[in-house]
Amino acid sequence: MSYFDRMKDKIKNIEAKKEVIILGIETSCDETSAAVVRNGREVLGHKIASQIELHRKYGGVVPEIASRKHVEVINPLIDETVKEADIPLSEMDGIAVTYGPGLVGALLVGVATAKALAFGLETPLIGVHHIEGHISANYIVHKNLEPPFLCLVVSGGHSHLVGVMDYGRYEILGQTLDDAAGEAYDKIARTLKLGYPGGPVIDRLAQQGDPHFVEYPRPYIKDPHYNFSFSGLKTAVINHLHSMDQRGQKYRVEDIAASFQQAVVDVLVDKTIKAAEDTRSQRIVLAGGVAANSALKTQLGNRCREKGMELYYPTPLLCTDNGAMIASAGYYKLRRGLVSDLTLNAIPGLPLA
Ligand code: KG4
Ligand code: ZN
Repeated sequence: MSYFDRMKDKIKNIEAKKEVIILGIETSCDETSAAVVRNGREVLGHKIASQIELHRKYGGVVPEIASRKHVEVINPLIDETVKEADIPLSEMDGIAVTYGPGLVGALLVGVATAKALAFGLETPLIGVHHIEGHISANYIVHKNLEPPFLCLVVSGGHSHLVGVMDYGRYEILGQTLDDAAGEAYDKIARTLKLGYPGGPVIDRLAQQGDPHFVEYPRPYIKDPHYNFSFSGLKTAVINHLHSMDQRGQKYRVEDIAASFQQAVVDVLVDKTIKAAEDTRSQRIVLAGGVAANSALKTQLGNRCREKGMELYYPTPLLCTDNGAMIASAGYYKLRRGLVSDLTLNAIPGLPLA
């Protein structure tokens, strides 16, 4: 009997199990992370090794450096995670791993590690979509949150409005046609020489700035669809900065940060509320690195309150890439019998739905 058939057999009785323990592994970009999660909601051990310092001097993630660092830290990091959870590897009910989208070399490190563990431990391997992971971070923070809901996924690589119909059932309502929201933050921060990543520093500076110092374009804000475009906004900010520099005009970085951020937040809030109204969603959920943004949380929260809708978002730690969200998503896949075989490969452009 092949490994896959043996696993199919093994998960037949998973429904009867009271406690399902999953090891989650995430290496899609510049965080190496592992977590042990019980029943998809309770984190027993969690380690995140961020590579930000390593990539900072290049102003962004260098794929080859990221892959090498993942190789170096993944095994000791899993050991520490399991130790923290105080559950031996042999007791894992499944090994969940991000297999896309992301940087191919980085993804491969996690996928190869997970496959080796799953094969060696005779336990199911569960390939997880990175965005499904980000969405699932909310299940850890909000114990009673269940689909259906509307989710705005905003990170360095993605800006998606997703109808979460059920666990694992997604309908993409809209997405960015060019840059992701976090990518725009990172590029503006680079132009302003604020370092990498740009989101947290722009968020902080914007709190001391005038959001109406300049009215930057709000791409597609009045259009009837739910797609985003942040490339034009980014160019508008960069051109504006160049023209002020050429004329020797002084400006406060705080005002630029606040004006740029207001344009991003206005678009995200308007599109999300419109999508929620059109789909009659009472619950809106944020996910991804940009979900940590204070202006987005406050302003979307205010609009939700006016409309009688509820807003959910993860803690800042669970907004950015982490292994716990992958373990949570893996749990719900395992519950539905969705396990992978050992041919699982990294897919850099993996679609969500
Ligand atoms: O989800 P994530 O860790 O990685 C991807 O899957 O892309 O998101 C990282 C992105 C970066 O672009 C970073 O600048 C942005 O999230 N970010 C923020 C904030 N914190 C992180 N953007 C806006 N405001 C923040 N507070
Ligand atoms: Zn991510």
